[in-house]
Amino acid sequence: MERGAGVKGRGFGAATIALHTGRETTPERENSPPLFLTSSFRFDSAEQARAVFAGEEAGNLYSRFTNPTVALFEERVAALEGAEHAVATASGMAAITMVFLALLSAGDHVVISRSVFGSTTNIANTLLKRMNIGVSRVALSDLSAWEAAITPATRMFFLETPANPTLEMVDLEALSRLGRDKGIWVVVDNVLCTPCVQQPLALGADLVVHSATKYMDGQGRVLGGVIAGARKLLMDHIYPMLRNTGASLSPFNAWVLFKGLETLPLRMDRHCDNAERVAAHLAAQPGLGGAVLYPGLPDHPQRELARRQMRRFGAIVCLDLGSRERAHRFMDGLELAIITANLGDGRTLTTHPATTTHAKLSHEERLSAGITEGLVRLSIGLEDLRDILTDLDQALERSR
Ligand SMILES: Cc1ncc(COP(=O)(O)O)c(C=O)c1O
Repeated sequence: MERGAGVKGRGFGAATIALHTGRETTPERENSPPLFLTSSFRFDSAEQARAVFAGEEAGNLYSRFTNPTVALFEERVAALEGAEHAVATASGMAAITMVFLALLSAGDHVVISRSVFGSTTNIANTLLKRMNIGVSRVALSDLSAWEAAITPATRMFFLETPANPTLEMVDLEALSRLGRDKGIWVVVDNVLCTPCVQQPLALGADLVVHSATKYMDGQGRVLGGVIAGARKLLMDHIYPMLRNTGASLSPFNAWVLFKGLETLPLRMDRHCDNAERVAAHLAAQPGLGGAVLYPGLPDHPQRELARRQMRRFGAIVCLDLGSRERAHRFMDGLELAIITANLGDGRTLTTHPATTTHAKLSHEERLSAGITEGLVRLSIGLEDLRDILTDLDQALERSR
């Protein structure tokens, strides 16, 4: 496959990078990227097979290792994140698991924010413990807690900022500086932002992980994940683990996600526009003032930090309605928004984290992560703002 020069590094904006990086043609000169739905690749001779396997000749050999459609997706994500390289995985959890398995060994220690996705906490509580990897959990925004948790065996800081679903944040530049000074890798799950809203590598992080299932797809179709960062760290450690364990992204999913990236900057702007207006509208409702969580609200305690390290305030808005009963009544009353365990879809989605995505955590773990029984997560979609507001208003009224 002939590749065009692409647009990386030429000073283009995100919308252009998302549409043009990895321009490609086969001899058919197709204008949309081809889908290489093949598990393996042919060789002209046994000698060529030997040479490609030995790394003496470039080429694809097996789709668990490399696939041209997956490579296009990786190249475009790397360009958007401002990363040297990216490696795609079968899901967001596969990306997170690969990072842990590839970079940590028995006897090592990792510091993980208390506010991370439920499955990430489950991995820390089960797999990492079983592998004799020490885990300390700290309050995300408390830099002194991160520092105090460091031991001579600490190899990694792992966090989400903003965290799903509490939207708490940490000063990424300061935490990355601490990690760099102590020789600790800083790994950021950037799902809630996407590179269009926040670029952790530019703020000093070592690796970014994504559930591409979310905004990168943007239409709730396929699972996928990706890890972006320095080429050497990825190729020396993460890629060998990935290709041997088989957590590779399917070419079909890569094709869907690659097409999703083309509109990511445009969609993120609209998602954020709608979310800012939804948060302001909800916060103005009688009795809801302090119950609305959104980094862009004037009284959010970390608003200044969000302004500094994020381009927009994101598209997740949370509401604490005080009790599970009212939270469920509100969700059941929504007519437009969809109850589902996902986020980042074009359609407005809602989730009750305490009984779904974070249900497997202990009561104490949930409370320390700020996940109360009354908390409802809204992933604000791309619908007409007026229709989202009308739906939320009528469901709130019915929940009273
Ligand atoms: C913040 C965050 N990280 C990771 C994941 C896992 O992604 P996936 O479902 O693609 O494995 C999710 C999924 O909801 C998430 O919200």
